[in-house]
Amino acid sequence: MIDFHVLNSSHEELEDFSLPFAKLLYEAVQSGASMGYLLETPLSELEAFWSSILSDVSHGNAKIVYAQEERVPIGVVVLAFEKNPNAKHRAEVAKLIVAREKQGLGVGKKLLSLLEMEARMSEKSLLILDTETDSVADSLYQSLQWTRLGEMPSHSASPNGELRPTTFYFKELF
Ligand SMILES: CC(C)(COP(=O)(O)OP(=O)(O)OC[C@H]1O[C@@H](n2cnc3c(N)ncnc32)[C@H](O)[C@@H]1OP(=O)(O)O)[C@@H](O)C(=O)NCCC(=O)NCCS
Repeated sequence: MIDFHVLNSSHEELEDFSLPFAKLLYEAVQSGASMGYLLETPLSELEAFWSSILSDVSHGNAKIVYAQEERVPIGVVVLAFEKNPNAKHRAEVAKLIVAREKQGLGVGKKLLSLLEMEARMSEKSLLILDTETDSVADSLYQSLQWTRLGEMPSHSASPNGELRPTTFYFKELF
């Protein structure tokens, strides 16, 4: 059975999650997903990335929703709070990942809907994100009523180094 959980600043032993989340990110990058990293990026660098996000969580600057099956994380998404005093109402959704063998089961949609609830509880009224144009995630956000702002050519490299366009989205929470 797949169950869903939230990590916030009250959670202890957050660091335990850096390796399993890094493994999810590693698999996504190796599958060609544009997630900020390249095919040759070592697992240790991805673990360092998650350590830094988990440190943000411990300081109340981010939240994480994750899915697990038999106590093994199989999906994750990050809600990163904006730090500037004039943007306290805004948060960025990042690193939505579902393990390859668990994709297409509704886990991604459920992670996003729980993250939206967490954003409301944190009094965020505007969510932003970007994703590779024409990816699975691109159509997922459109189906979940995110507003498509537009597309920027050659914005980011896919894991093999080829420059690809990125689409930018926002969602207002009323
Ligand atoms: C994007 C991602 C998180 C979606 O997770 P998921 O659990 O498979 O998504 P869901 O099962 O909730 O499905 C969401 C929608 O995507 C569609 N979808 C899922 N996998 C698909 C695939 N391989 N090809 C086409 N559509 C697909 C589903 O049909 C569903 O739409 P529907 O409900 O209208 O049928 C997952 O594909 C993933 O981890 N990709 C790699 C990482 C990535 O690119 N992340 C996005 C970064 S912004």
